[in-house]
Amino acid sequence: MSTRRRRRPRIGCLSLIAIVGAALLLALAVLLRPRSLPQPTALAVGAPAAAPRTALRSPASFMAIADPRARSIALFREAGRVIQHPRCLNCHPRTDRPTQTDAMRPHMPWVSRGAGEAVLPCATCHHDRNVEAAGVPGNPGWQLAPSEMAWQGQSLGDICRQLIDPARSHMTRAELLDHMATDDLVGWAWHPGGERTPAPGTQAQFGALIDAWLSTGAQCPA
Ligand code: HEC
Ligand code: HEC
Repeated sequence: MSTRRRRRPRIGCLSLIAIVGAALLLALAVLLRPRSLPQPTALAVGAPAAAPRTALRSPASFMAIADPRARSIALFREAGRVIQHPRCLNCHPRTDRPTQTDAMRPHMPWVSRGAGEAVLPCATCHHDRNVEAAGVPGNPGWQLAPSEMAWQGQSLGDICRQLIDPARSHMTRAELLDHMATDDLVGWAWHPGGERTPAPGTQAQFGALIDAWLSTGAQCPA
């Protein structure tokens, strides 16, 4: 009898210890949980790999090229890394339809330049700024570049000649420089929102390259 009586409280004590122990483990797990979270978060923040910004060479770094014509072409080639970037090309398509993402897929949903067609205006979805929650990029001037300013499917040399051809370009050289260096819609390409890869360098560095290209005679690659 006496052994039974002694055992009962022992079992009660053990189960109490077990319950307290389990509660402690649970508390520990809950406490440790937020500690393990910063790891992936830190990785996501610390890794701009999602949208890496690549550098752009400065005009000064081309001074070693003595021949002005060769230097002009080299400057335009470097600027071409911006001009032929998906952020620019997506809005300068060959067809009547913009493209999307770094892979430059046809725009979904279906939209079109839409001469005479019933189409959704761009501003139905694209607002005056990037809307991250909806994943839709934006700018107050969001619209498709006119078809005569199409760049997709063209060589860099062809784009270059088109830009400075008075019959095809809508801009004088001074306007072209101003547009490239300061236009807000062009500038969106460096702040595209979401995980879109920004254009290389900065808009100011890009403007400096265009400026140097124009002042070396605006020569075009073959
Ligand atoms: C019904 C909504 C809707 C309409 C209308 C619309 N878009 Fe979009 N557009 C989107 C969404 C959503 C995305 C983002 C898709 C993504 O990043 O995967 C997008 C992405 C884009 C991109 C890609 C940006 C980049 O570099 O990745 C371009 C360019 C674009 N739209 C241009 C236009 C133009 C020009 C018009 C008007 C002719 C237009 N869109 C009309 C919804 C729309
Ligand atoms: C959201 C769409 C959109 C994006 C993105 C965009 N453009 Fe454009 N682009 C336009 C439109 C619209 C015009 C016509 C502007 C006008 O006539 O005033 C244009 C015109 C131009 C022109 C004048 C071309 C000519 O032949 O006269 C240049 C240069 C230009 N864009 C450069 C760029 C560069 C560089 C980028 C990327 C860094 C870029 N654009 C990104 C819509 C876009």
